[in-house]
Amino acid sequence: MKTIRSVSELRDALREHRRAGHRIGLVPTMGAFHEGHLSLMRRAREQSDVVVVSLFVNPAQFNEATDLDAYPHDEARDAALADELGVDFLFAPPAGEVYPPGFATKVVISGITETLEGEHRGRAHFDGVTTVVAKLFNMVGPDVAYFGQKDAQQARIVKQLVRDLDMPLRIEVCETVRERDGLAMSSRNVLLSAEERHRAAALNRALEAIDRGYASGSRDPAELIRQARAELEAAGIEPDYLELVSPATLAPLAEVNGEALALVAARVGKTRLIDNHRIGSDAGPRAPATQHRH
Ligand code: PAJ
Repeated sequence: MKTIRSVSELRDALREHRRAGHRIGLVPTMGAFHEGHLSLMRRAREQSDVVVVSLFVNPAQFNEATDLDAYPHDEARDAALADELGVDFLFAPPAGEVYPPGFATKVVISGITETLEGEHRGRAHFDGVTTVVAKLFNMVGPDVAYFGQKDAQQARIVKQLVRDLDMPLRIEVCETVRERDGLAMSSRNVLLSAEERHRAAALNRALEAIDRGYASGSRDPAELIRQARAELEAAGIEPDYLELVSPATLAPLAEVNGEALALVAARVGKTRLIDNHRIGSDAGPRAPATQHRH
């Protein structure tokens, strides 16, 4: 695996592959790899001739300076993990390469960016995400880019970006990988104390309560959410939001009929965590290998 720091070097490295018609897969990340990231890389490796993983902690999408400062990084460890999985190129540019002096463009999507995470983190968050993701797509020119269902709103927004700007690539969304107690893997999990880590499993339990309520016939969002909220309360967690929305519009549902997305965000201690389950979908819940219940 080769680590690349500049856009020109990246273009040089990919030119021959593109000319030869090789299929290029991109996995955009902010590093601190866990099994969630690795699952995207494995999928990319299965489906592509050339796998590019980008590692860039994008300052534009952090709404709190303390969150950016606390964000874990260990590039040497990440590089070793990516190398083991057969990644061809680790694109890890310095901030000045992505945002050189005089940088003045923003890619802004309206509507679906304004609710949920957009509402709670401020709209600059998704502007930062869409801007950097558009740049990464232009830099790499992938045939397919891989995103995690863990960040359901982000995945939905990236699909919108590709559609609206006629970007010539496919977005593949991969299932959420979880810890044994159901906690969705996240780079932020290492920031939790042992006690917080234990309580954090309540996020997934809350979503499971919605799964159970739906399975037993309840279609009323308020009732489903009440059951989920009880799980959070039992763990002393007050959510930023706990909602049942349409996967297409991300708007709250008056009734759950057909597919729905149950989303939760909460601070556990100082660490903000998010998770979601798809409800009423044939795609089923989590992949068997990563689905652990007590
Ligand atoms: P990051 O949080 O590093 O996540 C990189 C990718 O890994 C995202 O697509 C995310 O959804 C996916 N991912 C994270 N946890 C996962 C899990 N438990 N299971 C499956 N996939 C998981 O998301 C970002 O970085 C940034 O916003 C980025 C898209 C790179 C733009 O800066």
